[in-house]
Amino acid sequence: MSHFIFNPFPDLTSERLRLRRLRAEDSKALYALRSSDEVNKYIYREKPSSETIVLEFIGKVNQSIAANEVIYWAVTLSKMDVLIGTICLWNIEKTLLRAEIGFELLSEFHGKGIMTEALGCVLKYGFTNLPLQIIEAWTHPANEASLSLLYKYGFIRDTQAEMRVAGDDELQDMIILSRSSDDYIKSSSKVTKV
Ligand SMILES: CC(C)(COP(=O)(O)OP(=O)(O)OC[C@H]1O[C@@H](n2cnc3c(N)ncnc32)[C@H](O)[C@@H]1OP(=O)(O)O)[C@@H](O)C(=O)NCCC(=O)NCCS
Repeated sequence: MSHFIFNPFPDLTSERLRLRRLRAEDSKALYALRSSDEVNKYIYREKPSSETIVLEFIGKVNQSIAANEVIYWAVTLSKMDVLIGTICLWNIEKTLLRAEIGFELLSEFHGKGIMTEALGCVLKYGFTNLPLQIIEAWTHPANEASLSLLYKYGFIRDTQAEMRVAGDDELQDMIILSRSSDDYIKSSSKVTKV
């Protein structure tokens, strides 16, 4: 359990991206992201009513990171330190070594391979720096972009996980896909080539 320590904050970098801690200055971009109809099309959550609510959200996220409960990154382009998306590992079950992944990107950046790069970084971090054995993703079956991204990294439909949470209101019409660390380590040379 002591392996889930997010201090110092784990900045991650890839060819075009820097994944870093959320800051108060991100509230405008994060408000745009979380209130976008296109981004929210398959995400069931309440839209923030103001930037102030988003600022509070940033504070709560950073508190949860300080408590080693979740790890949540702002996705930024390394040449331009502005938030364009987010990616996180949350619902971390430290005894079961399982976590859920979440990701979202401003629509003007869709389809450029950005989340492919970000997800590659986070899977590597989750399976090599953290002792995670399973990373799950809950997604809507019509969310083709999310599914393509997850399939690309070897996630597969996990009906056992779906049975585990059957009846949970939050599942609604979502499906669950998962990826295991064993399987990641076997094929990591293939998935890191993005
Ligand atoms: C899901 C999301 C993060 C994908 O990010 P992205 O940076 O646009 O994805 P990428 O460009 O890296 O593409 C990943 C793969 O998905 C495919 N893809 C991207 N958009 C697609 C779309 N609209 N329809 C079908 N496939 C799509 C790409 O072709 C790529 O596969 P390939 O490399 O085999 O060609 C982005 O669409 C998004 O933010 N959606 C709204 C939020 C959301 O639904 N989050 C997921 C919740 S589970």
